[in-house]
Amino acid sequence: MYLRESLNNILEKDPAARSKLEVILCYPGFHALFFHKFAHALWLKNIRTPARFISHLGRVFTGIEIHPGATIGRRVFIDHGMGVVIGETAEVGDDVVIYQGVTLGAGAAARQGAMSRDTKRHPTLGQGVIVGSGAEIQGAIVVGDNVRVASGSIVLKDVPPNSVVVGVPGRVIYQDGQKVEKPCPVEEAPDLELQAIKSLKEHLEAVEAKLARLQQKMRDREETGSLSGQNYPTVKQNDGGSDPVDVFLQGSGI
Ligand SMILES: CC(C)(COP(=O)(O)OP(=O)(O)OC[C@H]1O[C@@H](n2cnc3c(N)ncnc32)[C@H](O)[C@@H]1OP(=O)(O)O)[C@@H](O)C(=O)NCCC(=O)NCCS
Repeated sequence: MYLRESLNNILEKDPAARSKLEVILCYPGFHALFFHKFAHALWLKNIRTPARFISHLGRVFTGIEIHPGATIGRRVFIDHGMGVVIGETAEVGDDVVIYQGVTLGAGAAARQGAMSRDTKRHPTLGQGVIVGSGAEIQGAIVVGDNVRVASGSIVLKDVPPNSVVVGVPGRVIYQDGQKVEKPCPVEEAPDLELQAIKSLKEHLEAVEAKLARLQQKMRDREETGSLSGQNYPTVKQNDGGSDPVDVFLQGSGI
């Protein structure tokens, strides 16, 4: 039953799989889950070290490391698989697809060492989740049903069901088929460099105005021998278009 379901599952999900014999001979994800099935049964019977050893043999043979304590659902497909690490308290729902290089890790709890033993430290993946190659899902977070995690993402927070999450750190860009529009972080955060340039420019303009007044006073003295103090020329106003600093500021939306 389990064997037939696993073989049919891989044939259904992987266009490269041509026959059951090919899957039995050539699919490390298939082998790794077999090792895990055995190791997990021992783990549940509290036969811990042999369980770890079988898990280790599975890792040597397949390049996929699944801790015997991890709970793996039905019809899970680990494609290619090399470099996949699934931690002790991870839970993987039915029909999940995991590509090579994926880590379901303990996140910050790993730093606590033995203090975090026997606590939930690894993620829970809902049903039908797809985790792209090289993605990291870290910590005791919940990734909802039918979430797609982009290759190379690092997911550190719960993800709602039916979402697409991408990037580092992972952020939801689609939910229930709708694009999730988030303000660009650049617009959210004050741009300190631009503020500094703007403030410098204002300071410079004030200094230029002061200088122009002083020059006028000196000219008045030379021409009349007395200060008029009334007839200063207008300080040259910037037309806002030719000054490179203005051009830069306008280009930045200021
Ligand atoms: C993220 C993923 C699951 C989404 O797939 P999808 O829903 O079919 O949609 P798309 O591929 O069209 O991508 C949807 C959006 O995610 C973006 N995206 C896709 N992959 C991404 C990645 N790795 N990092 C960042 N953004 C990504 C796309 O640019 C697109 O953005 P847009 O709508 O603003 O243009 C998929 O692209 C993916 O990464 N799958 C894993 C594949 C994999 O690891 N294969 C290994 C085979 S060996």
